[in-house]
Amino acid sequence: MKRVITYGTFDLLHYGHINLLRRAKEQGDYLIVALSSDEFNELKGKKSFFNFEERKHLLEAIRFVDLVICEDSWKQKESDIIKYEVDCFVIGDDWEGQFDFLKDICDVIYLERTPEISTTEIKRKLETIGNK
Ligand code: CTP
Repeated sequence: MKRVITYGTFDLLHYGHINLLRRAKEQGDYLIVALSSDEFNELKGKKSFFNFEERKHLLEAIRFVDLVICEDSWKQKESDIIKYEVDCFVIGDDWEGQFDFLKDICDVIYLERTPEISTTEIKRKLETIGNK
């Protein structure tokens, strides 16, 4: 059983997220999503529309996702990888190179982002529509 892990906020779930999760799952047999807590988002300067429980609920409904855990610190990746016996760490290429230090303990794969969609962009567009 090959285990894969990915990290993120996954707010206002969109097709870029689904593409990422599908391709992450294709790297193995079991996909773990470490989902940023509301407190951790605050630390990253993000404020999500859906709270942690709502985002978790949505992710758990996706067939590529086997387990959702909580991400509440930058430092937990190594211990998550060991605890969950992860073989492969996957993330979008907006993070290219930034997690190469994990290569000592598992494979690290940066997947190409789906163009022209992001949570930030959705929020921006909704604001524009709202003001019309
Ligand atoms: N992702 C992707 N393609 C997109 C948007 C996101 O592959 N168009 C990936 C990211 O690279 C990351 C994961 O999905 O691995 C979760 O990203 P997240 O930051 O939660 O989503 P964004 O839409 O990028 O959110 P924001 O605009 O708030 O940064």
